[in-house]
Amino acid sequence: MTDEHYSLIDPKSGRRLDFPVLETTLGPNVIDVTGLYGQCGVFTYDPGFGTTASCTSDVTFVDGEEGVLLYRGYPIEQLAEHSSFTEVAYLLLYGDLPTADQLRAFDYSLCTHTMINESLLRFFNGFHHNAHPMAMVSGVVASMSAFYHDTTDIHMPHDRDVFAHRIIAKLPTIAAAAYKHSKGQPFVYPLNSLDYCSNTLHMFFSVPSDDYEVDPVAAQALDLLFILHADHEQNCSTSTVRLAGSSGTNPYAAIAAGISALWGPAHGGANEAVINMLEDIGTANNIPKYIDRAKDGSDPFRLMGFGHRVYKNHDPRATIIRKMCHRLLERLRANDTPLFDLALKLEEVALKDDYFVEKNLYPNVDFYSGIIYRALGIPKSMFTVMFAIARCVGWVTHWREMVTDPGTRIGRPRQLYVGPDKRDYLALDERG
Ligand code: SDX
Repeated sequence: MTDEHYSLIDPKSGRRLDFPVLETTLGPNVIDVTGLYGQCGVFTYDPGFGTTASCTSDVTFVDGEEGVLLYRGYPIEQLAEHSSFTEVAYLLLYGDLPTADQLRAFDYSLCTHTMINESLLRFFNGFHHNAHPMAMVSGVVASMSAFYHDTTDIHMPHDRDVFAHRIIAKLPTIAAAAYKHSKGQPFVYPLNSLDYCSNTLHMFFSVPSDDYEVDPVAAQALDLLFILHADHEQNCSTSTVRLAGSSGTNPYAAIAAGISALWGPAHGGANEAVINMLEDIGTANNIPKYIDRAKDGSDPFRLMGFGHRVYKNHDPRATIIRKMCHRLLERLRANDTPLFDLALKLEEVALKDDYFVEKNLYPNVDFYSGIIYRALGIPKSMFTVMFAIARCVGWVTHWREMVTDPGTRIGRPRQLYVGPDKRDYLALDERG
């Protein structure tokens, strides 16, 4: 708390009311308006929560103006360069980089949770072959609350830890099962001798009829994508997990709510929508037509993978992925170079257009990630599922921060009511 405050004059009473300023480590301070309604009988109004701090958090910091992203204070560029996904998961969950022993123990703990209950596997047979994988994954994750009663006392540190390790370890297994179901292929069990990302690729692409060797370049690329997608402060899906979790619901149900929120094309579903858009554009000479549509306020079309609620500069994650695309496409001998070249051209044209420059619309994390996932052989219907695997670490971290915060209350926003005034019931024969 600083001794600064903001004052307002209550127009009804003429009284001056002071609201304290809460000091941040980085970024903007906040005005504590928790006493506003009690003192003035009015609410604040901020649809989409663009200027509302919903909580106190020490997990991730995003500076949208400077294009900065820190996980527990560590710059995303340094973590992308030097770390691994499970090391970043430990950092986000426990607040500090692990020692070698701590990381070994964490990796081992995840390995002991990679398999899913055989009854959960049978759930997949209930889905039609063309069910969207996000629908399958959110449904199966929600049903985990029907299986794990032994460790969901959210007030017990041990239960919170087991839940965290269990859901982070099982999500790749569930994702791979959804993929195999959609392909009509047999489910592949996890192989705990493999690291997290190699195991994920093994469960996706191994088949009983052939030997399958995970390409270390592919595993490294997936690891980097997971690091970049692991957390992003109070984004839509993380806020959904916090809001659902604030009711005290089963933690698996809260994560399933986050998966559903991530699915939207305005959020994590954008990576799939970007590839659909690039395929629709087809060739560079069609770019101007799509740019014009994106600028036309009467056309609902938006340039997928562009723009961000917070980043009004380059999304540092997009910059890292773009740099990695070239190297990866070459090493994976993927034939997606034309799609990548089209994406680069689209970015070049858009960022020369005043509309995008004036509205600070830059490529976000979803603009290039789909090109890498395709190069890894992952179908676009699975792109948002891959995002969910990584973001599950952020969801669990914020869920735990919320349930252990003594100041947490059930989330219950108010509204600006613009409906009809009070009126009396009309009998049927009195209605016009
Ligand atoms: C993610 O929050 C997070 O941190 C999210 C995320 C994470 O890691 O969790 O970073 C992941 O969700 C990235 C975003 C992925 N979504 C997309 O790429 C979909 C395309 N982008 C847009 O839908 C949009 O930019 C949003 C949803 C991302 C942000 O929307 P905002 O902040 O509500 O901005 P806005 O809709 O108010 O747009 C401001 C203006 C509007 O024009 P005006 O009404 O002022 O005239 O910019 C325009 C918009 O029409 N605009 C776009 C545009 N994005 C915004 N115009 C064309 N194409 C776009 N992509």
